[in-house]
Amino acid sequence: SPSDPGLVERARAAKEKLGEKVFVLGHHYQRDEVIQFADVTGDSFKLARDAAARPDAEYIVFCGVHFMAESADILTTDDQKVVLPDLAAGCSMADMATAEQVAECWDVLTDAGIAEQVVPVSYMNSSADIKAFTGKHGGTICTSSNAKVALEWAFEQGEKVLFLPDQHLGRNTAVRDMGFSLDDCVVYNPHKPNGGLSAEQLRDAKMILWRGHCSVHGRFSLESVEDVRARIPGVNVLVHPECKHEVVAAADHVGSTEHIIKTLEAAPAGSKWAIGTELNLVRRLANRFAAEDKEIVFLDKTVCFCSTMNRIDLPHLVWTLESLAEGTLVNQIQVDRETEQFAKLALERMLALA
Ligand code: 13P
Ligand code: SF4
Repeated sequence: SPSDPGLVERARAAKEKLGEKVFVLGHHYQRDEVIQFADVTGDSFKLARDAAARPDAEYIVFCGVHFMAESADILTTDDQKVVLPDLAAGCSMADMATAEQVAECWDVLTDAGIAEQVVPVSYMNSSADIKAFTGKHGGTICTSSNAKVALEWAFEQGEKVLFLPDQHLGRNTAVRDMGFSLDDCVVYNPHKPNGGLSAEQLRDAKMILWRGHCSVHGRFSLESVEDVRARIPGVNVLVHPECKHEVVAAADHVGSTEHIIKTLEAAPAGSKWAIGTELNLVRRLANRFAAEDKEIVFLDKTVCFCSTMNRIDLPHLVWTLESLAEGTLVNQIQVDRETEQFAKLALERMLALA
């Protein structure tokens, strides 16, 4: 939808008044009306690095979701303030692993006699508490653009990996990129006693996958891949690794949002693409590449926007920027010191891997 011109003008004026004091980060899944005000756009990995590379900005306005703002707070200096324009912009996947559940899981692994062999690898899409748990237990964070490197590193440190919270990214990376079999993976269900697994299953497993998923990417189906292939002959199917294994296995290409963009930039004119990721990004890419005669369609029309990403809209951004310009700090995201210390360990391990 076109942005309200009055709001666009207000956002511009407030941003101008703030000048170098503010740095606005925009995740690729954000609305166009918000993205137009981003100083940089990126996937979660790029944005984490970009946030850390701006020590002079007093305010980092994070147009994305809560776990991204937390990570930015961890990686920025103590003087910098990270602001999330709508505090209700969470992530349902990140919410699928709580600190209590993960501590309980570790007890289960300890009782099975395997905790010492297990290295936790946590997806960026997790709370600061989970990142701190990961750092404390010698593990690393990963994003969808470096999951393979992170897992390779983890398997040099130990014999097994506890991957959380996205079972799909964990399984897809292990099976598609690293030669593990589906049988090497087990799923730990935090809602069942002992995760629903016997000690023997845990001892046999290489990859212990947390039972979490993305409510948006989890909805793409094998059927949607088959349908689009029938509808558009010669189409290339390109999906995000948060999709189910069967979808990823049927796709032609798999990658993070940044990878998806780069792939389309390099694609020849006349090529056709069906993209399985969040709709704001797919629409933006379809518009952008139409001029270069690249046909881009959304993989499954029944899948909708990420509702929490969409909570950051132009009215919230205007309110945030105007408040900051008036000297009122709003919606600050601040991770407590102890959590930050251990979460930072895990995040810095990731940054060192890349
Ligand atoms: P990337 O931008 O790292 O591909 O992550 C996708 C995502 O779901 C973020 O919430
Ligand atoms: Fe979370 Fe999925 Fe939305 Fe990303 S797209 S923020 S993983 S719910």
